[in-house]
Amino acid sequence: MAESEPADNTRREFLSQATLAAVGAVLAACSGGGASDVFAPTQQNPEPTPGTSGSSLTVTLASFPALGAVGGIAAVGNLGAKPVAVVRDGEATYVALSRICTHAGCDIGIVSGGFQCPCHGSRFNSSGVPTQGPAQAALQRFNVVLSTNGTTLTIS
Ligand code: FES
Repeated sequence: MAESEPADNTRREFLSQATLAAVGAVLAACSGGGASDVFAPTQQNPEPTPGTSGSSLTVTLASFPALGAVGGIAAVGNLGAKPVAVVRDGEATYVALSRICTHAGCDIGIVSGGFQCPCHGSRFNSSGVPTQGPAQAALQRFNVVLSTNGTTLTIS
């Protein structure tokens, strides 16, 4: 097998040089101003929801007719990666809840008087308290501030 060593060495040298060339091409692309192309938004990395800064979500109440009456519930967007619902629980009071089921993390839907999870059937009242399992824990609540003119909510 000593006769095959030169061929093996040549193959190894070729692979080594090809690897270095590929690494060099990647480094050149990254340092040559192409970084913005590398991090362009994709479906897995979408643009943030309008009205959200990542740590807060601004909701214009007029955009959600369901919140025009006490007892109304509306899906209002995302806070970070979490879908959020707002419940109007008084004339000038609102509750913001995560729409992530506390059982196994499915997105829950809005039903009359509360929420229902499509995955295993858990139900939650409009305060986010579970009324039917298997979920045992209440929905996560967010902080809500009503603007002084009463037209927007800031959820964080
Ligand atoms: S994930 Fe909602 S009931 Fe199981």
